[in-house]
Amino acid sequence: MKVAVVGATGMVGEVMLKVLEERNFPVTDLIPVASARSLGKSISFKGKDYKVVVLETAVTMKPDIALFSAGGDTSLEWAPKFAAVGTTVVDNSSAWRMDPTKKLVVPEINASELTKTDKIIANPNCSTIQLVMALNPLHKKYKMKRVVVSTYQSVSGTGVKAVRQLENEIAGIEGEMAYPYPIGRNALPHCDVFEANGYTKEEMKLAREPQKIMNDKTFSISATAVRIPTAGGHSESVNVQFENDFDLADVRKLLHETPGVVVQDNTDTNTYPMPIYAHNKDEVFVGRIRRDETQPNTLNMWIVADNLRKGAATNTVQIAEYLVANNLV
Ligand code: A2P
Repeated sequence: MKVAVVGATGMVGEVMLKVLEERNFPVTDLIPVASARSLGKSISFKGKDYKVVVLETAVTMKPDIALFSAGGDTSLEWAPKFAAVGTTVVDNSSAWRMDPTKKLVVPEINASELTKTDKIIANPNCSTIQLVMALNPLHKKYKMKRVVVSTYQSVSGTGVKAVRQLENEIAGIEGEMAYPYPIGRNALPHCDVFEANGYTKEEMKLAREPQKIMNDKTFSISATAVRIPTAGGHSESVNVQFENDFDLADVRKLLHETPGVVVQDNTDTNTYPMPIYAHNKDEVFVGRIRRDETQPNTLNMWIVADNLRKGAATNTVQIAEYLVANNLV
């Protein structure tokens, strides 16, 4: 496979390269793509050095697959150009997610929707992926009515500049700001831009994307997204109201049996998921599973995952793996 990684010098792109290497994805030729600023740089992949190229060059090389993570504007403009030369694009930006002609895929949930004609495939938002990984098996059994989620999101989700802002603040260095306020020792109830309804775009992604991935509009999701000074992963406090009652032991068993989900839930031993331990892992960790005692059929839980891995790079590579395994590319 000739594989292009668009945004190869960025936070997600770097993890994509690592995941492709680790999972031994059948790359015969790697095309690392970045902006003109990065021309002259090389990317090391499986012991070989590859020169960074710009999009104009990459598209003429007609890759079989292109994994995009270089922002929405780049995807909007360039994904169709790659698709036009026969490349299958798996796009990590928000550009195509809600386009009704494009699939929005979490492989464990809806990869079977993919066909050979899908040339631009969208990877969901990082907070969405970890949420639906835990919700999907529960929804199938107990039928969700309404979900209220509050996120505690890592600065790595914003990009290199934000990680640097946090590091600078910790080191007492005055530097470039990725956020309108300090992020160290702070919590910003502001992820992505505000929309007209008073919610942020991140909150609306959490409200809309799960319905599309799970192909079900019978439940609704209300979200508050908060940026906190962590780097290893996103955390979510989730309250789910079901149509049907559940048994807590069954909920734990169901989640335990879900591929890609790990239950860490024992209050006797202070066992619960935390971003510092989810860092560099591909699984979605679920804990603090308990009944909401204020309302029938309602569950509280805490979900943590590495936003750069399952929330972005790993999910993208898993989609590519599915395409290859099923001769869809
Ligand atoms: P570059 O390093 O040359 O700026 P992050 O989100 O971590 O900041 O990373 C964004 C990634 O997207 C980087 O690899 C960046 O490359 C890349 N990128 C940004 N704009 C473009 C563009 N116009 N063409 C190709 N790659 C781009």
